[in-house]
Amino acid sequence: MNSKINLNVQNMQISGIRQFFNRIQHIEGMISLTIGQPDFETPLHIKSAAIRAIEENHTSYTHNAGYIELRQAISTYMNKKYKLDYTPDSEIIVTNGASQAIDTALRTILSPGDEVILPSPVYPGYTPIINQCGGSPVFIDTTTENFKLSASLIEKSITGKTKCIVLPYPSNPTGVSLTGEELEEIAGVASEHDLLIIADEIYSELTYGRDHFSIGTIAKDRTIVINGLSKSHSMTGWRIGVLMAPAWLASQCLKVHQYNVSCASSISQMAALEAFTAGIDDAIPMREAYKKRKELTSSYLRKLGFKTIEPDGAFYFLAGIPIEIASFDFAVELAEKAGVGVIPGTAFDPNGEGYVRISYACSEDQIHEAFKRIERYLSESD
Ligand SMILES: Cc1ncc(COP(=O)(O)O)c(C=O)c1O
Repeated sequence: MNSKINLNVQNMQISGIRQFFNRIQHIEGMISLTIGQPDFETPLHIKSAAIRAIEENHTSYTHNAGYIELRQAISTYMNKKYKLDYTPDSEIIVTNGASQAIDTALRTILSPGDEVILPSPVYPGYTPIINQCGGSPVFIDTTTENFKLSASLIEKSITGKTKCIVLPYPSNPTGVSLTGEELEEIAGVASEHDLLIIADEIYSELTYGRDHFSIGTIAKDRTIVINGLSKSHSMTGWRIGVLMAPAWLASQCLKVHQYNVSCASSISQMAALEAFTAGIDDAIPMREAYKKRKELTSSYLRKLGFKTIEPDGAFYFLAGIPIEIASFDFAVELAEKAGVGVIPGTAFDPNGEGYVRISYACSEDQIHEAFKRIERYLSESD
């Protein structure tokens, strides 16, 4: 019966993160440093706004791009936070999470044969969609470049088929981000070769040190900016993402979005209106907590000999394993022998060999206990 299934779908793999998580989740008493979502509750005032939305019958289809009041609030928020300048009625689409914004963006621009440049290791949400469109991902190994994509690396990978560059910063799985100057150089290359840019900025509120810089402020005419509330407001289950693009591009994205989902949930949109207005600074206490956990995790990793690059944002380290062992085997052993869950770097494509992704979206107590166990495991495997 497989012959009845689209070839690109037959070839699609379940995400390596999910596969690995399913394999280890039955282990009793395990401390999971695998988590890709905030461990905070959605702020109460946002939950209350959703309850009010139901009571007040905000339960119908909305405009395909989302309630106009919500798009106005997003426009103001993005301008205040990141100096982005998007018009509510023609340049902003509310999506079902950043995931659907990624899907819409790629399906709007890609034709069969197109190539998409991505940093590697990278979040596994882009490749299956690129493949489904008949395009090809072109991975640039950033493991010797402090996990940073640069203008010169991009330039070396450009061919006549290159359509777009994906800039997922701050990065899952590495936590690194690019500076304004680095992004200026990339914007220059994109302009010179007439390439589009997809900037996945879902972790933009979770930065430590310098504030997030969006390439949408300097290359708006060729950029699709993706953001949302999943990470900033601990709202992964509400499914609210945002796609922002110049009107010529957003109007094409809206066609793909419309025939796929009609609109994002009306109730979640009302909750999002509260988040983007009264909840404009809700991420600050969460960011402070992550920052402390990052420092704690960093000190343990260094003490135990893991190779690390200090993250600029998000809530992950992609840490170099301190012993000779394949990433997958290391992660299995850590789960089965030490009771600690981490994600093998190979879940983020082959350049992740030798690394594991460690999430610090968990309590400080869990971090202390996890590293006590990892230390014991490492000393026993000497
Ligand atoms: C880089 C990146 N982009 C997009 C997403 C998906 O976000 P959402 O839950 O809003 O669909 C994730 C989720 O982990 C992510 O890490």
